[in-house]
Amino acid sequence: MAAVAGGEAGDSEKQPPFRWLNVARCAVAAVVMVLILAVIINAIQVVLRPNSLSLTVVEGTVFVKRLPEEKNLSLSLDLRAENPSGRARMYYTNLDAYLLNTTMESTAKPRRDCIIYFRPKDIVAFDQQQAVMSSMKLHVTNKSMPGYFDKLYANGTMRDVTLRLDGDLVTEVTINETRRATYYCRSLIVGGDPDDEAFRYWQDDVHCTKA
Ligand SMILES: *[C@@H]1O[C@H](CO)[C@@H](O)[C@H](O)[C@H]1NC(C)=O
Ligand SMILES: *[C@@H]1O[C@H](CO)[C@@H](O)[C@H](O)[C@H]1NC(C)=O
Ligand SMILES: *[C@@H]1O[C@H](CO)[C@@H](O)[C@H](O)[C@H]1NC(C)=O
Ligand SMILES: *[C@@H]1O[C@H](CO)[C@@H](O)[C@H](O)[C@H]1NC(C)=O
Ligand SMILES: *[C@@H]1O[C@H](CO)[C@@H](O)[C@H](O)[C@H]1NC(C)=O
Repeated sequence: MAAVAGGEAGDSEKQPPFRWLNVARCAVAAVVMVLILAVIINAIQVVLRPNSLSLTVVEGTVFVKRLPEEKNLSLSLDLRAENPSGRARMYYTNLDAYLLNTTMESTAKPRRDCIIYFRPKDIVAFDQQQAVMSSMKLHVTNKSMPGYFDKLYANGTMRDVTLRLDGDLVTEVTINETRRATYYCRSLIVGGDPDDEAFRYWQDDVHCTKA
């Protein structure tokens, strides 16, 4: 038995092995407890956390239609909004939208630095896992988009354009919780006639990231 005690000098020869066994048991119990707590806390967070609105630019493209009679261009894009939250309604309101050169996407003065600025309609995503489509359309002229108009008017395309959305993200459970949220939809192509088959599905959908 002295061998088990490891030759340690003790008041009793039998107690040290039992003490170590108890300590080990306690340690294992503590670890298991911590693991269980971690799992529970995680589960509660998953249930309670209102997952954020998920936004996607369909076909990753801002389509451009020439309106020669008017000397203007019609820009259009489809944004798909999904509400992953089981309990909450989500609204994305008071929206400011900018098309920006990717190198400028996080500028503090987007109104000054953008290619074009517009104000989309509010996005309302009621149902869990049911996508809502928002079609955004705007007419631009040589005046409203100087510097970029000519290229697009000549059927050119612009790549690496970011759509930036700034708005109030409202989560409605029983009351409304509002926070300012910015989304970046990157690597969009601007150009391509929406009625021309050649430009349909030339790009994959672009998932937007929330800042
Ligand atoms: C551009 O053309 C469309 C269609 O003809 C017209 O409805 C719109 O008012 C024009 N926009 C501008 C800014 O000239
Ligand atoms: C974006 O900016 C970069 C660097 O400033 C420039 O080379 C590029 O041509 C710009 N792209 C567009 C679409 O204006
Ligand atoms: C747009 O404006 C510029 C400068 O004012 C001019 O040179 C250009 O021809 C215009 N583009 C079109 C398509 O009218
Ligand atoms: C641009 O494309 C449209 C239709 O695809 C065509 O009618 C028009 O002539 C083209 N313009 C230029 C400048 O190439
Ligand atoms: C929450 O905000 C939305 C959008 O502004 C509004 O339509 C809705 O009535 C609000 N709900 C509550 C409970 O205040």
